[in-house]
Amino acid sequence: MPNPIRIQFVCLGNICRSPLAKAVFRDKVKDAGLEEHFEIVSSGTSNYHIGDQADRRMRQTAERNGHSLEAHRASQFQAEDLESFDHIFVMDKSNLNDVLHLDENDEYGGKVRLFREFDPDPDDYQVPDPYHGGREGFENVYDIVNRTSDALLHRLVEEHGLAEHVE
Ligand code: 4NP
Repeated sequence: MPNPIRIQFVCLGNICRSPLAKAVFRDKVKDAGLEEHFEIVSSGTSNYHIGDQADRRMRQTAERNGHSLEAHRASQFQAEDLESFDHIFVMDKSNLNDVLHLDENDEYGGKVRLFREFDPDPDDYQVPDPYHGGREGFENVYDIVNRTSDALLHRLVEEHGLAEHVE
């Protein structure tokens, strides 16, 4: 496989929402037999949690739903990622502003989109930050990420002509 499609999911801390999106989307890609066609990572716009494991509550939520975040370590989004990734999916509008702020010459805006643009039931197009809330907030994030990842994979398979490779 020559050039995998490079995808980065972005939130604020890279310990809750984007690590979950990475794991869930990766597992769906794997289930579709498309692993070699994608490179999937995540990051945060802040430096708050660099090197940290995913939030314990999010690890538990992922585990309950059949996904593992155990290998995740938080990292920070870098301006160079705007050039080297094909698609950058951000969790909320604040992440969108922060990422676009790094695009000094306004070259890469077309690659940066709100993840929930693909959600069939998008509400306000943002994945709510669960960090300061309770367990329902984490389960709500899981439901959003799960259905949006299905729709997103479907769209990328079409956009990149991968339908014939789906198992
Ligand atoms: P995330 O959640 O952006 O989904 O990883 C957060 C994690 C940590 C903080 C904020 C949001 N924080 O302020 O430390």
